[in-house]
Amino acid sequence: MTSLPSVLITRNDTPEEGVIHLQSKCKVEIYNEPRPIPREELLRLVKGKNGLYCHVTEKINAEVLEAAGPSLKVIGTYSVGYDHIDLEECRKRGIFVGNTPNVLTDAVAELTVGLLLATSRRLMEATKQIASGGWAKSNCAPLWMCGTNLVNSTVGMMGLGRIGFGVAERLKCFKVKNILYSGNKPKPEASEKLNAKFVPFEELLKLSDFVIVCASLNSTTRGIFNLEAFQKMKRNAIFINVSRGGLVNHEDLYTALTTGLIKAAGLDVMDPEPLPSDHKLTKLSNCVLLPHIGSATVETRNTMARLTAENILAGLDGKPLPCPL
Ligand code: DGY
Repeated sequence: MTSLPSVLITRNDTPEEGVIHLQSKCKVEIYNEPRPIPREELLRLVKGKNGLYCHVTEKINAEVLEAAGPSLKVIGTYSVGYDHIDLEECRKRGIFVGNTPNVLTDAVAELTVGLLLATSRRLMEATKQIASGGWAKSNCAPLWMCGTNLVNSTVGMMGLGRIGFGVAERLKCFKVKNILYSGNKPKPEASEKLNAKFVPFEELLKLSDFVIVCASLNSTTRGIFNLEAFQKMKRNAIFINVSRGGLVNHEDLYTALTTGLIKAAGLDVMDPEPLPSDHKLTKLSNCVLLPHIGSATVETRNTMARLTAENILAGLDGKPLPCPL
């Protein structure tokens, strides 16, 4: 009888759908804590495993792959983003890697629209006005707590992949006037379905009332939103990031928000994460911060767990992964 393949799951609060699926066909070891696995534990427990179920909080690089040794065949990351994995090193060793696209597109796109509205209509600030007595003191002044319309605006999408496309589709229902996008190359379906126009990055910055970042983090996008970029934006622009904090220089964003270079920002992703609770961005009324909850719906997180397990099982079986990288 051949022995079952071994798989490491890096935390014990992994949704059951993923765990049970793996347990039916593998010998599963789970790091027995509901928190990111410490590096030394990861290096110790991954040794000799055939599969690795990991999260965005773990940097999977040559050191981890070395520690795992030649038995490691497949890695499934519980995320669509994969900037925490050194794909080149995985390829060199013939290790398959799979992620969880598609199943989280709707959840992240919905959250993005929510964050955009929360920022443009100042929802967090407005809520606080009730308990703080600000409403009572406002005398219901006509311009008190005023925000910005989406209708007739120009929206600039930095990155029009699955999530960017989902956001733009939803924003069309808000009757925005123009949808611009920047990225690697123009996409035929963007003009056909969204009437969106491909523009150079500089033009996107210059023309957009809302700049929404959905591009992935890589060597060309790292730090792309710096002071120079914020200086090119409209003074009343609203900046939204749901991709990765690494695309943004947060020191420069702070300067932009406090010197009037841009009007407001809404971030679901930051650098570092978790953002320290006393970080200076948390003190700004024109900055809405969410703790990276883009894909955080129960249905989505369960489906992601199942898909992560399916990627691993396919790789262990030598079959094509459902979502290969
Ligand atoms: C993803 O799936 O990449 C999300 O950003 C992680 O929560």
